[in-house]
Amino acid sequence: MSKLSEEEIKSKPQTSSKWTDVLYNELDDRLKISEIAELASHKTVPIHKHSIWYYFGGISMLFFAVQMVTGMLLLMHYEPGITTSYASIQKLLNKVEFGQIMRSLHSWAANLMVASVLIHMFSAYFMKAYQKPRELTWFSGAVLLFLTITLGFTGYLLPWDDIAYFATQVGLKIAEATPWIENKATEHWFWPGKLASELLKGGVNLTNLTIQRFASIHYVILPWVFAVFMGFHVILVQLHGNTIPKKIKETKQYREIPFFPNFIYEDLFAWLLVFTVLALIALIWPWGLGPEADLLASAPPGIHPEWYFMAPFELLKWMPPSLGPINGEFLGIALFGGVSVLLFAVPLWDTKTSSGKIGRMATYYGVFCLIALILFTIFAYYCLDENKACRVTHDFFPWIIRGFK
Ligand code: HEM
Repeated sequence: MSKLSEEEIKSKPQTSSKWTDVLYNELDDRLKISEIAELASHKTVPIHKHSIWYYFGGISMLFFAVQMVTGMLLLMHYEPGITTSYASIQKLLNKVEFGQIMRSLHSWAANLMVASVLIHMFSAYFMKAYQKPRELTWFSGAVLLFLTITLGFTGYLLPWDDIAYFATQVGLKIAEATPWIENKATEHWFWPGKLASELLKGGVNLTNLTIQRFASIHYVILPWVFAVFMGFHVILVQLHGNTIPKKIKETKQYREIPFFPNFIYEDLFAWLLVFTVLALIALIWPWGLGPEADLLASAPPGIHPEWYFMAPFELLKWMPPSLGPINGEFLGIALFGGVSVLLFAVPLWDTKTSSGKIGRMATYYGVFCLIALILFTIFAYYCLDENKACRVTHDFFPWIIRGFK
C-alpha cells in the first residue's frame, strides 16, 4: 500500500480547532482514511461513448440498499402466517404512518432492481467484460442475478393476496417442469424441480408452512448470501477495473477520470436521480393489495407470474403436450435452461480476446438471447387477454403465413 508522503501528512489540519477537522484527524489516525482515499485516487475509470453502462452496477447496489432499509421497516409490522400475513399488511397500509410509502418503495425497487441487473448483465456481456481476468466477476454476477430473482419470487407471496397466491402457484409450476431423471433400475423418477417446489412449499399445497419458508428465505437467508456475493463481486471490480470495449481501446477514443472523488460524485448523482424517480413512481402509483387469498376459490382469469418470469411462462405455452417420449413442459424448461446455461457459461467458450469467429458468435448469441427475452415477454402479455384468440404468428409475423411474400 502506498504510504502518504511526509509533506502530505504534515499538510493534514493537525492544529485546526474546527471540530470537524479534529474529528477527522482522530478517525484518520485510527482508520487511515487519507491513505485509502489516496489509493482510490490512483484508480481511474474510462470515459467514452458507452460509459453510461458502467452506472448500472452501482444502481443495482442502490436498489439493494433500498430493499434492506425498507424491508427492515416493513418487518417491524409484518407477521408471517396464513391468518396474519394479509391482516398485518392491511394494518400497515391503513394504520401505520408512512407504511404505504415504505411498501410501495420496497415493491417498486424490487422490480426496478431486476430490470437494472438485467441491463447491467447484458451491457457487461456486449462489452465482453467476462473475458480473462474477469471470469469470476461474471460468474459471481450470475449468482447475484439468480439471488435477485429468488428474492423477488419469495417476496411476492408474503402479502398473501389472491394474485400473490395464484401467481406463486404458476411460478412453482414452471419450476416443477424442470428436467427429470429416470432411475431405470427402480423405475423411479427424480424431478429436481418438483422436489425443490415441494421443499419450498413444505408439502404439496401452499400452506402456513409455505409462508414461513418463503419468509425465512426472503428476509433471513438470502439478504446475507446476497451481501457476501455482492462484496466479492465489487472487490473483483475494484481489482480489475472497468473493461474498455475493444474498438474504443484500439482507436484510443477515451479518457480516464479518477475513481475518487470524480467517478464517485457521478455515481452519487446517478443514485440521486434514480432514487428520485423511484420515489415519484412509488408515490404516484402506490403498490396495490388485492383481496385476501381464498384457498377454495378458482384462479381469477388472466393470472400470470411477475414480468421477469413471463418469457419462460410463454415458452411453456408454445410447447406441444409431448414430443415422442419427451414431455412438453420438460422440453420447454430444458430449452430455456440450455439457452441460459450457454449464455452464463460464455467466459468458458469465448476466451480469445482478439475478435475471431467465436467472438462474433458470442455477440450474435447475446443479441439472440436479448431479442428472444423481449419478444417472448411481449407475446406473453399480448396473449393474456383470454377473450382474444392469441395468434402470435398471424398477428406479429404475417409474412411467415404468407410464405415470406
Ligand atoms: C444485484 C446484482 C449486481 C450488483 C449489485 C452488481 C454490481 C456491480 C458493480 C458496482 C460493478 C462496477 C460498475 C459497473 O461496471 O457497472 C459491476 C461490474 C461487473 N458486473 Fe456486476 N453487479 C450485479 C449483477 C451482475 C450480473 C447479473 C452480471 C453478469 C452475469 C454481472 C457482471 C459484471 C461484470 C462482468 C462486471 C465488470 C464490468 C467491467 O469490467 O466493466 N454483474 N457489478
